[in-house]
Amino acid sequence: MEAMNTLEVKQAQKFYGQFQAVKDIDLTIAKGEIYALLGHNGAGKSTLIKMILGLVKPSAGTIVIEGLNYDAKNKEIKKKVGYLPERMNFYDNLTAWETIGFYAKLKGIMKKRCEEVLEQVGLKEAGHRRVGAFSKGMQQRLGLAQAIIHKPDLLVLDEPTTGLDPIGILELKEMIRNWNKEGTTILFSSHNLNDVEELAQQIGIMNRGEIIAQGSLAELQDRLGLPTKIEIDLAVIPVDLEKILAVKRIETFLVEGRTISIDCPKAKKAQVIAAVMDGVLKVLDLRLAEPGLNSIYQSIMEKPAVL
Ligand SMILES: Nc1ncnc2c1ncn2[C@@H]1O[C@H](COP(=O)(O)OP(=O)(O)OP(=O)(O)O)[C@@H](O)[C@H]1O
Ligand SMILES: [Mg+2]
Repeated sequence: MEAMNTLEVKQAQKFYGQFQAVKDIDLTIAKGEIYALLGHNGAGKSTLIKMILGLVKPSAGTIVIEGLNYDAKNKEIKKKVGYLPERMNFYDNLTAWETIGFYAKLKGIMKKRCEEVLEQVGLKEAGHRRVGAFSKGMQQRLGLAQAIIHKPDLLVLDEPTTGLDPIGILELKEMIRNWNKEGTTILFSSHNLNDVEELAQQIGIMNRGEIIAQGSLAELQDRLGLPTKIEIDLAVIPVDLEKILAVKRIETFLVEGRTISIDCPKAKKAQVIAAVMDGVLKVLDLRLAEPGLNSIYQSIMEKPAVL
């Protein structure tokens, strides 16, 4: 039977000598999902990723990819995973073509596929140039090309957007979305909350070797109970604004110019909006801002034992 989950990490731990870099991690990624790992420098993201790749041996726990375990007899598991490391080292004197040809040979892939992947990552034109003269963004693209050349079931990207310019980031996100649409499951780590918010269906937040919060953006928003910000532009600010709002049971608010901001519990949103719009105030415009990943991340990091 085909596995439902592409990745199952159970109770994974990693000690470097006395130091425990990863503590009892459980992580499941369903087939076809995009999962993002967030966390401060040194939280253990890359260590966890390297254990998933079979590059670092866990001190305890199990890792199963597409139903397969890492063991001496099982070479199949490595074919199922593609990896873009935090830092890639290429041979400066080889061209992009030669480099990707080298990886193709290593992985037993036909040459024809090289052209396809170089095109996908936007390096077809630069194929005959030396990698040593490539910009950081071009090297990152080449790194991606080697990661997907064997059409892995699970694509693991360790901080893929670092060092890319804004257009490079947009293009990378588009590539990730396309590979995902074609059925590739994706795990990536990032310090860029916007990228995570845009791409990930599931988010895991790591702190000191542990995953302290896990879920979709909406689930994390709900669990933390962070308020929705309601901003209201008024034609005029009445002198007795405080009294008017008190009647509407709105007690905490901020006034800046002719704009009022109210931090409102999610469950009371409709009630507060209806009260504000009852005709007493001259409302010109109204905006809602749900708590984004930025406030979620900050809130979780302030009290790390919550979720
Ligand atoms: N080979 C190693 N030997 C000893 N300690 C290590 C080794 N690799 C990582 N560590 C330590 O394990 C901890 C986790 O490191 P890791 O690289 O996994 O963090 P990270 O979350 O990827 O951080 P960053 O965001 O900076 O990339 C750090 O304290 C690091 O110093
Ligand atoms: Mg790292």
